[in-house]
Amino acid sequence: MSQESLFFRQPAHTPVRHIRTPEEWEADIATEVPRVPWDVFVQEWRWLQGEHVGLIGPTGAGKTTLLGAILPYRWYVVVFGTKPADDTLDMLLEQEDYRKYEEWLKVKAKKSPRRVLWPDATDITAEEHQRVVFANAFAAIYKEMNWCVVNDEGWYIAEMLRLKQPMRVYWTQGRSLGLSFVVCTQRPAWVPVEMYDGSTHLFMWRTTEEEAIRRMSSLGAANSALVKYIVPRLEENQALYINTRTGVMRRTRAPWPIRPSHQGKEPDPTEVTPQ
Ligand SMILES: Nc1ncnc2c1ncn2[C@@H]1O[C@H](COP(=O)(O)OP(=O)(O)OP(=O)(O)O)[C@@H](O)[C@H]1O
Ligand SMILES: [Mg+2]
Repeated sequence: MSQESLFFRQPAHTPVRHIRTPEEWEADIATEVPRVPWDVFVQEWRWLQGEHVGLIGPTGAGKTTLLGAILPYRWYVVVFGTKPADDTLDMLLEQEDYRKYEEWLKVKAKKSPRRVLWPDATDITAEEHQRVVFANAFAAIYKEMNWCVVNDEGWYIAEMLRLKQPMRVYWTQGRSLGLSFVVCTQRPAWVPVEMYDGSTHLFMWRTTEEEAIRRMSSLGAANSALVKYIVPRLEENQALYINTRTGVMRRTRAPWPIRPSHQGKEPDPTEVTPQ
């Protein structure tokens, strides 16, 4: 036998790699990632204090809409407002028990449990001003603990306002402080990787961008091949939900139009008040 044939000889039992058919994928998805109506989804969904939520999807996907649908499930909520005008925040302030603050004030959480922190951003120095207000808020909220902190524009706060560092601290230490951190982003590459490692609950929307799909599918507990297959095939406004601790996956769609009202719901009795 020549040298060459030793190298190129096939082992007797070469496993033949099975290429899955679309039908096989669809069958797996139907059982492992069932499509569930929102009401059913939230019935089985447990979002505990200190667990983070990441929402990742291109513009217009439905992140803010879904955000509006999950906020009623927490009682002590702070939403960071960044744009000079924002319809969703206006709506929270009009319909809800939210109160607007231009900077973080030490007001008793029980007195004012639901807040929009919205520094004035109407002139050319807005970014510098926002940076100071949010940096102070990150530091103060960290000490008060037990808040649910919401960033609708994660990239803007991390990159434009250069506040990646406190965001990282929240993601990595939030759990032990009872701080839930909720962050939306349009592209996974735009936020620190801690967002994925640190989020217990992830919602993702359709994208065909390879890098985004690669990041989404690399999530620990999730079945990465399945995520890779599903993400580019999601329907419009349909979200893929992944619980990164349990591996549970669902496909669902938030109610539309947005109804973020707390609707007199009692706070979760297990929820701990910030200090
Ligand atoms: N669950 C839904 N059902 C039906 N329509 C929806 C749903 N979610 C979003 N939409 C539609 O998509 C539009 C954009 O939604 P939304 O503002 O939530 O997107 P977004 O991901 O926050 O976008 P951006 O990144 O630009 O902030 C809504 O105005 C609405 O028309
Ligand atoms: Mg939005």
